[in-house]
Amino acid sequence: MPEARTLGEAPGPRGHWFWGSIQERRHNPLHLFIRAHQEYGDLVRLRMGPTISLVSVSSPELVKHVLVDHADKYGKPSGLVRDAWPLLGNGLFTSSGDFWKRQRRLMQPAFHKEHLAALAGTMVDSTQQMLARWHARPSASEPLDIAAEMTRLTLGIVGRALFSTDVSGTADRVGQALTIALAETNHRILSLGLYAPDFLPTPRNRAFRQALHTLDSVVFDIISRRRAGQTHGEDLLATLMATQDADTGERMTDPQLRDEAMTLFLAGHETTTNALAWMWHLLSHHPDVEARARAEVDSVLAGRAPTAHDLPRLRYLTQVFEEAMRLYPPAWIVARQPLKEDVLAGIHLPATPRVIVALSPYVLHRNPRLWPDPERFDPDRFSPEQSASRPRLAYLPFGGGQRLCIGNGFALMEATLITAEVLRHFRLRAVPGHTVEPEPLVTLRPKGGLPMLVEPLHARA
Ligand code: HEM
Repeated sequence: MPEARTLGEAPGPRGHWFWGSIQERRHNPLHLFIRAHQEYGDLVRLRMGPTISLVSVSSPELVKHVLVDHADKYGKPSGLVRDAWPLLGNGLFTSSGDFWKRQRRLMQPAFHKEHLAALAGTMVDSTQQMLARWHARPSASEPLDIAAEMTRLTLGIVGRALFSTDVSGTADRVGQALTIALAETNHRILSLGLYAPDFLPTPRNRAFRQALHTLDSVVFDIISRRRAGQTHGEDLLATLMATQDADTGERMTDPQLRDEAMTLFLAGHETTTNALAWMWHLLSHHPDVEARARAEVDSVLAGRAPTAHDLPRLRYLTQVFEEAMRLYPPAWIVARQPLKEDVLAGIHLPATPRVIVALSPYVLHRNPRLWPDPERFDPDRFSPEQSASRPRLAYLPFGGGQRLCIGNGFALMEATLITAEVLRHFRLRAVPGHTVEPEPLVTLRPKGGLPMLVEPLHARA
């Protein structure tokens, strides 16, 4: 067997003699990753300054190696966990080891099919409230920022699903605090550790601390009122409070409930928002796909609102959403740090936080060996037949292996119901002359929002 090569011998662009590819990573990361894989193959090393190496992989086999076969040798990058900690604490996204395993076991029942089905009514109801606002607009010919609309909608849904409380109103202090806290967490993650430490009273740090304080007091208040029996709800919080560890009989403590609630809040809306925004953008540029989606809605629903029972028959709508996430995966990078040394595609990876293994759904989903004519938007790629002919880890919007997104069923159901309800009442059209560009922050957003023209199909009675 040939000896493993060192990281220094791994294929990849040399970049600047000192900075490596750090500038391009900052200015045009999607281009950097795509081009590097086209030139150097399925494993590429990108130097980020003199000490950090990003090892990017873009084949299902290498993804399987990291996320499934050798998952015990990799963990979430320590920098990512440090930056997300003030907001998410020891929640499911940031925790690790036996603690994570226990929490995952405790939380899984809340995401079972029958629990999710009970949330369908909330999802459709929140969508109807958004559509009523659209109908009531004084000027339908003014563009509307669909990215902002989707944020408000998905935030409202996840708030109601968690706590039976709508937190989406822009004047609402929770919505505002969440926006500030999320923006600061994004900023910290993207600045690779180069931000003012928490103890410095900079305006950013003060606003962040204030936002965290607001969020904590609201969440703890909801929990304590629920514990005291002052409120009731068939929501995720109720399920999380009721679940007991099968072996130990333990339940979650209040601080742990806070961390999990915050995690679900954030993980549950930012990603879904972006995926929906990209889907509306793509549909507006593919009238044939839109017509087919609309025909499915008309034939399955025949004029009524969708329910959870309709989901298996709204198959094409789900495919449209899946294809949108192929081209614009909200989590465009899934990152790991080697916790034990490993050999990946013949390259020796030392166990150090200075090596980040980047699994990029954005690149993987454009690999022409897996996805012929990859830039073409074609929801038929997700027909049962075509899906069965691909390796499972060729498609990675929700990650994979044991850390697979716990909310994937929630997100697919939510997206399908929202899409069906919107298509029943409105047509969303691109604003002529407006170009939409992806902005790869922590999630992949449409840069500067997504203005669209929103046309009612029928005048309101
Ligand atoms: C289109 C929507 C969504 C996308 C694209 C998405 C994507 C992802 C990805 C890629 C991961 C894995 C990250 C990693 O391995 O490093 C993940 C984990 C997670 N997601 Fe989602 N997600 C979505 C919706 C949701 C929703 C709706 C919820 C909850 C209501 C949720 C909750 C979580 C949680 C708690 C984790 C951590 C799971 C663990 O590590 O055990 N996500 N998500």
